[in-house]
Amino acid sequence: MISIREYTDKDYNAATNLMRKLTELMGEKFDEFRWKTSLLARKSQQEGMFIAIEGDKVVGMSFAEIRGREAQPYGYISSVIVDEDYRGQGIGELLIQKAIMYLGRRGANKVRINVRKEAVGAIKLYEKIGFKEKYRVMELTLHEDQKVEKPQPPKA
Ligand SMILES: CC(C)(COP(=O)(O)OP(=O)(O)OC[C@H]1O[C@@H](n2cnc3c(N)ncnc32)[C@H](O)[C@@H]1OP(=O)(O)O)[C@@H](O)C(=O)NCCC(=O)NCCS
Repeated sequence: MISIREYTDKDYNAATNLMRKLTELMGEKFDEFRWKTSLLARKSQQEGMFIAIEGDKVVGMSFAEIRGREAQPYGYISSVIVDEDYRGQGIGELLIQKAIMYLGRRGANKVRINVRKEAVGAIKLYEKIGFKEKYRVMELTLHEDQKVEKPQPPKA
């Protein structure tokens, strides 16, 4: 049976493997220092970290936090992933619902989630739960000459 519970330090290795897979899927390099730092920050700020368990095996995770505290607080969900062998059984949906409940209890009226265009399964899952596209994030990869300011030619 699947259950969802809070992350504990004992889940570190399994959660790290899931995060490695997620960064791979996103075409990014896994940075263990960054991962450890973000886990520590989440723990100290008491943010939500949820783990899906089948027996004693970690099979998925989701993170939840309150953002925009000063202006308009909203909930934010990130790092949603289910082990490939366990997909299609409703675990992703349970992880998101758990994160939503957590954010609702902490005062969020809205919850946001960023998703890659290619993550068709994730988009379907979020739509099924009721998420609607609100923003479109555009990205520009800078060339080297856009990173260094060229010296201006001296005025004649
Ligand atoms: C997205 C992800 C977490 C879904 O987990 P999951 O446990 O397989 O999802 P569920 O079984 O809870 O699916 C719930 C609903 O999501 C939708 N869905 C999930 N995967 C889907 C797929 N491959 N194709 C179409 N719809 C899909 C369906 O609507 C499904 O409802 P249904 O079973 O009634 O059809 C999982 O596919 C995953 O880990 N993907 C790789 C990581 C990723 O892209 N994460 C999102 C980062 S932005």
